[in-house]
Amino acid sequence: MRRRLIAGNWKMNGTVPEAISLVQRLKLLVSDVQDRDIAVCPPFTLLDTVSKMIIDTRIYLGAQDMFWEEKGAFTGEISPLMLKEFNCTFVILGHSERRWIIGETDEFIAKKVESAIRNGLTPILCVGERLEDREAGKTKDVVISQLEGSLSLVKDPESIVIAYEPVWAIGTGKPAYPKDAVDVISMIREWYGSRFGKDKAEGVRILYGGSVTPSNIDDFMKESEIDGALVGGASLNADSFARIVKYLL
Ligand code: 13P
Repeated sequence: MRRRLIAGNWKMNGTVPEAISLVQRLKLLVSDVQDRDIAVCPPFTLLDTVSKMIIDTRIYLGAQDMFWEEKGAFTGEISPLMLKEFNCTFVILGHSERRWIIGETDEFIAKKVESAIRNGLTPILCVGERLEDREAGKTKDVVISQLEGSLSLVKDPESIVIAYEPVWAIGTGKPAYPKDAVDVISMIREWYGSRFGKDKAEGVRILYGGSVTPSNIDDFMKESEIDGALVGGASLNADSFARIVKYLL
């Protein structure tokens, strides 16, 4: 059985006081949760604060990006070793906002994924099609090409999480239908099996992301193929994120 993971991607949001009050309340609300993993992924500037606050909890810490080198002349970048200093377990890589707004390529993402694994971080690799891809019937081609490109340097995928995030569902209030998400997620698992073997495919956690809220999480989690959620907007409020973490089956 794969253990489910609910991860909050705060994106470029949060001041120190905001993070403190959010995490204080979240800790209270999820203190009784045992059977699923919880992660928060704040911006780099809040990793220190949040890391200290969750030391005595079951909440994991994740970052939203990293560079592949360990140190050196890479102005503005953050290395895997720096993330580990704050006890990060996860690092989101290849998020569509980085692919489409910042222009990150699969080649870049592949180097980051390889470096994260080599340095003991678990990448949450994001893939997903844009609306025009879906309308042109190219969803599967696009997702497979992102997987092939982003995982091209991985030999032994010790620990990887994949997040299927259709771009058209992100921040729009229009989530995918759970059945449609299951279609793509099953296809991702099949591809993963052909690339890394059946056992690895059975073990890899594949999340759904895109307009997940307290009112739709239960429907997603009723699907056994969906191993959790990557939550944006709704993770910025402790009560709504806690309700998502406490999805009902
Ligand atoms: P929203 O939940 O705000 O749609 O964002 C999803 C996302 O991009 C998580 O990485």
